Amino acid sequence: MTENKITPTKEIKRIAVFTSGGDAPGMNAAVRAIVRNAVHNDLHIYGIMRGYEGMIDGNIRRLETTDVSNIIHRGGTILKTARSQRFLTPEGRKKAYENLIDNDIDALIAIGGNGTFTGAVKFMEEYPNVPILGLPGTIDNDLYGTDFTIGFDTAVNTSVQAVDKIRDTADSHNRLFFVEVMGRHSGYIALHTGIGGGAGGVLIPEEETTIDDLVRLLKRGAKRAKLFSIVIVAEGNHMGTVYDIAKKVEEQIDIYDDIKVTVIGHLQRGGSPSSFDRVLASILGFSAVEALLQGKTGMMVGIKNNSIHYTPFHEAITRRKSLNKDLLRMSHILAQ
Ligand code: F6P
Repeated sequence: MTENKITPTKEIKRIAVFTSGGDAPGMNAAVRAIVRNAVHNDLHIYGIMRGYEGMIDGNIRRLETTDVSNIIHRGGTILKTARSQRFLTPEGRKKAYENLIDNDIDALIAIGGNGTFTGAVKFMEEYPNVPILGLPGTIDNDLYGTDFTIGFDTAVNTSVQAVDKIRDTADSHNRLFFVEVMGRHSGYIALHTGIGGGAGGVLIPEEETTIDDLVRLLKRGAKRAKLFSIVIVAEGNHMGTVYDIAKKVEEQIDIYDDIKVTVIGHLQRGGSPSSFDRVLASILGFSAVEALLQGKTGMMVGIKNNSIHYTPFHEAITRRKSLNKDLLRMSHILAQ
């Protein structure tokens, strides 16, 4: 990072930013950083409303420094978001391109996840003259090329707070609770919620577990007079829905007074971003503007080992981010 203004390698004067896919806490902080650093570099900055949908509809408006005042602490996204079906078609992308040209947009910054970057890759194949950079904005933390995605930390904090509350009632009633968290095909939210919430078990897509394994684990706990337990279930786990799992376990176990299910669901997506997410989003947004001006394109701007790291879009979406196996092993040991 530098305090000085960047001299662009290509003539970039007008940048547009948009948020796309599932909203994530911290997206607003990223938009703020992009707008502020763009203005600092004498660029005109535009916001595209509702992601690719707004690009197709020409819903594009100029943003000034004051438009991003008082948003750093807000969840959701002031630019709104959508999962666009129309952008999956060549006609949709053509319309989007024409709107960018009509608005003299030279470059784009996309904030989103897998679907967002998949759209960006398609668009760049057809219209390579529009540089695009991406910021990882998803609670799932499932993007290869970054240690953390914007929104993940807040989502985990929300889930851990929920687990703390469930613990009170689980303990009081000697109950087993299965708590489902989001993450799509990734177990990151579940693993971190399990560790931070002191759960008795974690079921994640990255690890094969059977009902028998789970029952054995719970029975082991019961031998040590553990009369309640909380198991975190990632929505993408291999064993089925959290309700199926609860039912199958209930058939094999009579340790607890009752078995209950809680699905945290979209609560994980909302709320004021944690300070970690605000700082991460600010760093990535700030860096994306500089990277565009330095001529970078087709990449996701992420963070690895506390340093900015650029990953080509196709790698970010096709390579599987592996779970930290040491953390997983630790979570099993601490859960006993
Ligand atoms: O990608 C974020 C995410 O919240 C996933 O964890 C979840 O599977 C999905 O989006 C839910 O999507 P929607 O809000 O469209 O139902």
